[in-house]
Amino acid sequence: MDNLIEAIKQLKKEKNAVILGHYYQRSEIQEISDFVGDSLALAQWAAKTEADIIVMCGVHFMGETAKVLCPDKKVLVPDMEAGCSLADSCPADKFAQFVHAHPDHTVISYVNTTAAVKAVTDVVVTSTNARQIVESFPKDEKIIFGPDKNLGGYINRETGRNMLLWDGSCHVHEQFSVEKLVETKAQHPDALILAHPECKQAIQEMADVVGSTAALLKFAVIHPDRKYIVVTESGILHEMQKKCPNTTFIPALPENDSCACNECSYMRLNTLQKLYDCLKNESPEIVVDKEIAEKAVHPIERMLEISEKLGL
Ligand code: 13P
Ligand code: SF4
Repeated sequence: MDNLIEAIKQLKKEKNAVILGHYYQRSEIQEISDFVGDSLALAQWAAKTEADIIVMCGVHFMGETAKVLCPDKKVLVPDMEAGCSLADSCPADKFAQFVHAHPDHTVISYVNTTAAVKAVTDVVVTSTNARQIVESFPKDEKIIFGPDKNLGGYINRETGRNMLLWDGSCHVHEQFSVEKLVETKAQHPDALILAHPECKQAIQEMADVVGSTAALLKFAVIHPDRKYIVVTESGILHEMQKKCPNTTFIPALPENDSCACNECSYMRLNTLQKLYDCLKNESPEIVVDKEIAEKAVHPIERMLEISEKLGL
């Protein structure tokens, strides 16, 4: 493993590449990444990097977002099969029909979508900035929000809006069980529950803090003297434990005991060997249709501009 790590570092230097890693990546990938962050931070880093090659250690839509923002750079992903069940729950043709059926609505899409969905979107959001971006529109603005119905429902309840929601979800976050969470909380009554807004409403209602991966991490860093039950993909525990070495973090359990469904099978497809191979071969490479990319860039840039103004 040490040889592989050295070889990756060497190739990265030779090729002027940067490795961006999501919090849900395997620990060893997070450790070798130049930058580790949530979906918003990865897009922000991609937009400002001076590297010639971006290796996106995350899932396909994150690579696409980087490519759309940096069309002249080579964007690589260690495994082209690293998709996203949430992005898959929103086929671009069906979403476009939904948008056309509501011409008086502003279209807000979660970043977990294909570039083709972003191409029919007015502004992209991530879980870190979704609420603030929705609130930047007038209260009576008619809004379509897609594709995550749990995040959309959370924002509707928090802001008193009535956005039209696309019926999509993430298979990892939907798997968390209320029953198991009640059991875990009974075993650790002093622990606070941290939950991602992609979780079902019943889980959100049990949580002490609902937020994006970055927001949950920030909360723990500010309050390291507490104990936490973490209801999101368990990869985030690596960074939480690293930043708060003396804090106890307990991963929440999915419905089915025999599966590791609190791990995103797509995120875990990326391995050190595949990262090495993709840097060496400069493949697999993300390619986005030019016409789609030219449309998709606007709502992504709009998100980055609003986020900057909001200090996010
Ligand atoms: P964030 O990185 O925005 O918290 O999103 C979580 C997620 O599911 C990414 O795929
Ligand atoms: Fe997609 Fe869910 Fe995996 Fe995130 S955790 S990449 S939303 S399937």
